[in-house]
Amino acid sequence: MSKILAIESSCDETAAAIIEDEHIVLSNVVATQIDVHKDYGGVIPEIASRIHIENISMVLDECLKKANLTMNDIDAIAFTQGPGLIGSLHVGVQAAKTLAWAFHKPLVPVHHIAGHIYANRLVTELKFPLMALVVSGGHTELVYMKDEWSFEVLGTTQDDAIGEAFDKVGRVLGLPYPGGVYIDKLSKQGKNIYKLPKPKPEKELDFSFSGLKSGVLQFIKRMERNNESFLPEDLARSFQETAISCLLERADKALDQYDVRQFVLAGGVAANSCLREHVMNDIQKRHQHVECIIPPLSCCTDNAAMIGVAGSIAYRHGVRADASVSAQPGMDLESSTN
Ligand code: KG4
Ligand code: ZN
Repeated sequence: MSKILAIESSCDETAAAIIEDEHIVLSNVVATQIDVHKDYGGVIPEIASRIHIENISMVLDECLKKANLTMNDIDAIAFTQGPGLIGSLHVGVQAAKTLAWAFHKPLVPVHHIAGHIYANRLVTELKFPLMALVVSGGHTELVYMKDEWSFEVLGTTQDDAIGEAFDKVGRVLGLPYPGGVYIDKLSKQGKNIYKLPKPKPEKELDFSFSGLKSGVLQFIKRMERNNESFLPEDLARSFQETAISCLLERADKALDQYDVRQFVLAGGVAANSCLREHVMNDIQKRHQHVECIIPPLSCCTDNAAMIGVAGSIAYRHGVRADASVSAQPGMDLESSTN
């Protein structure tokens, strides 16, 4: 039974976790910086890396303490190598390298998206081939996994990630950062009454959200210019339904084209109640032979447990890094794992 210590620091959460036997969480510590970045309306990379430096030792200490383990009990150290903010990633990579050197442990580099997908393994057995819809602040991807360590990106965003669009629309609606969860809440009181632009990229499984985001902005300007009023909850609901329908349409098409056993949601936006409802009600009904899985809310946003699970699988597959390894802000999922 392997015990993997995992470190995640790709954006604004400093996180460490210990995973036993590829899916059992012995400890899972996350120090979030949201309260600091809230004041700026978004993540400020320089500030993020500085806070990672302040927090990383404490987070690692607490992680070992909570699991009642020492470094001697650990088989390998998994860490997010990319993608993400260079300065943020760097702190996690350096911490992993230092521990590996000091305690003679193997290093296992993990792609952040592989981590998001494997968050689902914390709650259920994964069955392959599998289709994953990865939706977060930095990613919007449809990923086909023929088996447990092969990743094929079928579609990706041509501009903004969906979480980024949620956060930017949240900002223009005057909501706190990160806007996604607030738009989700506000939408519950609103109606889907405004028709917003729904960009259609050339490749049928690709995504695009910048036109929709500008559509919301233009709508607000038009209303202001004409001295018309509108309810923010109606605009939030209309935006959310439009954005989520773009995801569902692509997922639907991908599931028509690929014969898979499971469809899993992953990433921060997987916490969205409208997306969760439509996956369980519509996608599941339309593709009855496919088992739809949605991770619990605690597994959606960034954490190190998910990196620990993906790291455990990678460790078994012999994935290793040496002491020269460095952060890869633009890391490619397919070439990093295949
Ligand atoms: O996976 P994550 O923690 O970080 C990245 O890897 O990017 O995702 C964060 C994103 C943010 O954009 C946040 O607004 C969004 O997930 N998010 C949501 C909800 N909860 C978090 N978006 C829509 N509805 C939610 N309930
Ligand atoms: Zn993430």
